[in-house]
Amino acid sequence: MNTTPLYRQLANHYLDAIRSGTLKTGERLPSIRLMMEKHAVSLSTAVQVCRELEDCGVLEARPRSGNYIRQPDTLPRPAPVASAPALDTSAYVGIHQQVSTVLKASQRATIKVNFASAYCAPELYPLKTLQDNMIKSLRYDTSLLGAAGSTCGNSALRHLLARRALASKTHLAPERIVITNGATEAINLALRAVTRPGDTVAVESPTFYGLLQILESLSLRVLEVPASAHTGLNLSALEGLLQGPEPVKALIVIPNLQNPLGSIMPDANKARLVKLCAEHNTVLIEDDTYGDLVDTEQPLSTLKHWDRTDNVIYCASLNKTLAPGMRLGWISAGKWHDRVEMLKHTQSRGCELLSQLAVSEFMRTPSYERYLRRLRKTLTVQRAQMSTAIARYFPIGTSVTHPQGGTLLWVELPRRHSSMAFFHEALKVGIQISPGDIFSNTERFDHFVRIGCGAPYSPRIDEALQTLGRILKAQG
Ligand SMILES: Cc1ncc(COP(=O)(O)O)c(C=O)c1O
Repeated sequence: MNTTPLYRQLANHYLDAIRSGTLKTGERLPSIRLMMEKHAVSLSTAVQVCRELEDCGVLEARPRSGNYIRQPDTLPRPAPVASAPALDTSAYVGIHQQVSTVLKASQRATIKVNFASAYCAPELYPLKTLQDNMIKSLRYDTSLLGAAGSTCGNSALRHLLARRALASKTHLAPERIVITNGATEAINLALRAVTRPGDTVAVESPTFYGLLQILESLSLRVLEVPASAHTGLNLSALEGLLQGPEPVKALIVIPNLQNPLGSIMPDANKARLVKLCAEHNTVLIEDDTYGDLVDTEQPLSTLKHWDRTDNVIYCASLNKTLAPGMRLGWISAGKWHDRVEMLKHTQSRGCELLSQLAVSEFMRTPSYERYLRRLRKTLTVQRAQMSTAIARYFPIGTSVTHPQGGTLLWVELPRRHSSMAFFHEALKVGIQISPGDIFSNTERFDHFVRIGCGAPYSPRIDEALQTLGRILKAQG
């Protein structure tokens, strides 16, 4: 039984909220009346809570206005409570820990310039059009907010996605598409549909750290297959692996604008890869997150295009190309569709409908293609400006990829540099970069960094790149 008086328990509750930042300096504490209602306590208890908080120095009473949080020099330590069970950290060791350390350090820092993002700057997205479409959709149909959508998503959007895929010679049946919470959910679903914990899954090396995190969270074993910035996955290495003793249940590949390499697999390689996987019963999971950002007149083919045996699961996303805030992606899982639909239903049900309608409304007009063409051109200019500046400011011996689209540059520093040390030094001056170490479970990329070019070039960006150059030169 808790013997701490009720008013002190409540005061501790508010102290914890202040300590964790849920209640911030300058914010108003709930009024005495609201406190009585919310916590079902008497007037005298609520008043005592406020007194206790005042005594701790965290509350300031302002006449006729209320009680406001103020920052004391030091917050008193909370009264001891029964200790919570420790987390089983063994589930999180490995790349998760490495990535989490990087992400947490970034969250704690005050970021002035962010080169770690793969997104475009918000002003490059058609946000006003999407806002208008949302308002229009809601005006015509308020029931959108009152009814749950279907598990697979809005059928108009699924038809549109299937029709657009035809341009890259990809046949996706609309009734076998499931709208997801980004490519992240699509890939999670694909993996859950075809693997069990303990199975082995191959990935390109280096690869997007988010994929490594997903694999680890599903207790899958990871094999990394070398990939180059020119043609992507090394097929000879893959062939050797598939002929080896360890069955490889699935392979995740980003064939067009690989993250972080920016590579594009030639058609012949795509065809050979699909055939190889089919021959070895390895399910091929295609991550086409960046396909629409490829800077060519004609859309490039997908792996799904070369698939003759329904062995490719296609995953894609609108989060880099259209609206990161809407978190829309999709999966076309072919013969695994029913299982994916069941998993989606049990995991999160159908995605929220309003965003799906707003993007459909835009995507079915010619403005969408025009917008994408404009975005690709803008990114081409931004990439060129950034790589010129990197060549100018970074130490001799640095090399930079020249991807044919997208927002990412993969930068190799002279071997003596540590990307982790570089990351931490840059963070100290408010500049965020992605250290190469998080793109692999090996240490092969410890002198690489990924630099995002999603924002229009500006004096602020130029200055930040100069600063990065100075940090590197100071490191030796
Ligand atoms: C290659 C790749 N796949 C998947 C994702 C995750 O996509 P989403 O934001 O749509 O979940 C990203 C995000 O950066 C990515 O680069």
